[in-house]
Parts: sequence; structure tokens; C-alpha cells
Amino acid sequence: MILGNPFKLRRNGVMGLNERNLRLVAELNPRGLMRLVNDKTITKRLAIEAGIPNPELIGLVSNPYDMRRLDQMLERPNGVAIKPANGSQGNGIMIITGPMKGGYKLANGRRVVFEDVRFHVMNILSGMYSLGGLPDTALIEERVRFAGVFDEISFKGVPDVRIIVLKGVPILAMLRLPTADSDGKANLHKGGVGVGVDLVTGVTQLGMQYDQLVDFHPDTANELSGLQTPYWEDMLIMAAQAYDVTSLGFLGADIVIDVDKGPLLLELNGRPGIAIQIANRFGLRAHVEPVLAADTSKMDAKARIAFGKDIYRLIHEGQAAA
Ligand SMILES: Nc1ncnc2c1ncn2[C@@H]1O[C@H](COP(=O)(O)OP(=O)(O)O)[C@@H](O)[C@H]1O
Ligand SMILES: [Mg+2]
Repeated sequence: MILGNPFKLRRNGVMGLNERNLRLVAELNPRGLMRLVNDKTITKRLAIEAGIPNPELIGLVSNPYDMRRLDQMLERPNGVAIKPANGSQGNGIMIITGPMKGGYKLANGRRVVFEDVRFHVMNILSGMYSLGGLPDTALIEERVRFAGVFDEISFKGVPDVRIIVLKGVPILAMLRLPTADSDGKANLHKGGVGVGVDLVTGVTQLGMQYDQLVDFHPDTANELSGLQTPYWEDMLIMAAQAYDVTSLGFLGADIVIDVDKGPLLLELNGRPGIAIQIANRFGLRAHVEPVLAADTSKMDAKARIAFGKDIYRLIHEGQAAA
């Protein structure tokens, strides 16, 4: 494995969790601001106010009273996604793809009845999937339907694009693909595949699953590299704007593509994972240092994107020449 060799590891500037926590999260993300992204209902409101497209909110369930309207909220021919407002890593997310014989069909093909869904929502309210185990709210939103170039390398779910944004500057990106293991979700901890994406062009590179390098999708056996991410420039703008609306200096923006609506912001993370370095076969440090050293305060989103691309080009063209 590429990360097995400590010398190579250091040379490529791979960041560990400690360094990420101390230099990026603690330094750039004040505690009070984390609330804005930890709670998906707040993130959604901010995105709507800023005009960043995101999946339509069908309703919230916070108490037994709201629960009485749950069956109505599920009445969508194209299905819904049910999520804990304060969840993470794909935990507690139920993807319903549509009605099925008096019940509902899940992304993994299984049929459930209303009572099963209600039970799941009760568990969300009890805090089973939430940070800190506190009572939570269930968010019911439209299910994003995906169609396009990544169909060949996705399995029963929606791929998402994770873009890491530092001081408003996009620095690294990866495409995350659902697999048979990941139950309609693209989260890496659930068995999703992470694929490096060229920050300048949006073209996919090689991938990883469970921290192992892979070149082909495990379920479809199709090659991961060489695909153009549609709406790439739009996605970079959405990610850069996420900084303007949250003021979080270090964040991960998760973006999906809907067949009708185009790119939609799914959520923001104030403590994005570091596996993106494996997917990109390259460490964060080289991308981070120039941004930390620069004064980006007078740059708008477009200028910050241009800056991020310059850094990326410098590093990766240098690497190709080496
Ligand atoms: N509205 C939706 N429609 C379809 N799939 C979704 C939807 N919301 C989430 N997902 C799937 O679940 C994954 C995790 O969702 P996300 O909102 O990022 O929550 P988490 O904080 O748990 O990562 C996404 O990467 C995507 O694959
Ligand atoms: Mg996510």
C-alpha cells in the first residue's frame, strides 16, 4: 500500500488526524461555527439563503405530533431520503426509491412497510445516530436521482463529489461512489469507493476502497479513471461559496448531481476526513501550506478557485515531471 512507507508518506506530505485537528480544525473552525454544518437543517437554510441549490426539503419530524404527517411526506413517486439532522458518515440514512406493493422500496432493493420506516424515524428522534447521542430531528428530503457518466461506476445509489475548501480556496477533490456494500450511500466508511479528481479539469483519476487502492469499480468492473465530472466549474463555485456562508476556514462540501436539477449541495463537513489523500495518491500538506501562507481575505470565490487551481497545477505538473 502506498501509505505503508513512512518516507514516501512524509515526502508526499500526507497529513495525519492529529495535524488535521490541530492545524486546520482547531485553528480555522471556531467551535460556535461548527453548529452551522453539524446540523443539516441549518446548513440547508444557509444554502437556500445564499442561492446554493440543494435537495428540496419535504419536511421535518421532531416529535410525535409531526410523526402523524410522516406517511404523507413519504408519498413521492421518486422516493425520499430520511436523515438524522445531526448525523454523519452515512449513519441512520434511509433511502427510499419509491412505493412498492403497499410499502416502500429501499435503495438496496429490499421492501419495507410504513411501520419499519416509522420505527427508523423514532430511532433518529431518540438520538441513536446523532453526534453526542442527543435527541434529534429527522429530515425528509427529495431523493436525488442520478444519471450520467458515472452510471458505469456506481451501484444502486448516488455518487457524490467531495471538495476540500481551505480559507475559501478549493484544494483537493474526490468522487465517492456507492457500492453493493454501501447501501445507496457514497460514504467511504460504508464501503463507498473514493476516486481522485483533477481539481483543474474535473477528470477522474484512480481510486480506493477500504483504504486499498483500486482502479476498477468493485461491482461493475468498469475503469474509474478518465471520466469528466459534469458541471465541474459550478461545483467549484458552490464549494467556494460554502465558505462565504459559513466562515469555516476548513470544510468539505458534498455535492451530488440530479438528473433534472443538476448539481445540488448535500451537506458540509467541518471535520472532513483525510482518506481523500489516498484517493488522490497525494498528501494534503503541499496543497495546504500555500493557502495558509496567503492573504485570501480580499479574493472573491472566482479568484479563490483560480488560486486553488494554480496551486494544484504547480504541485501535480511538478510531480509528473519528477
Ligand atoms: N437526498 C438524497 N438522495 C439520494 N441519496 C442521498 C440523499 N441524501 C444523502 N444521500 C446519500 O447518502 C450519503 C450521505 O449523505 P449526507 O447528507 O452526506 O450525510 P452524512 O453526513 O451522513 O454523510 C450521500 O453521499 C448520498 O450517497
Ligand atoms: Mg456526507
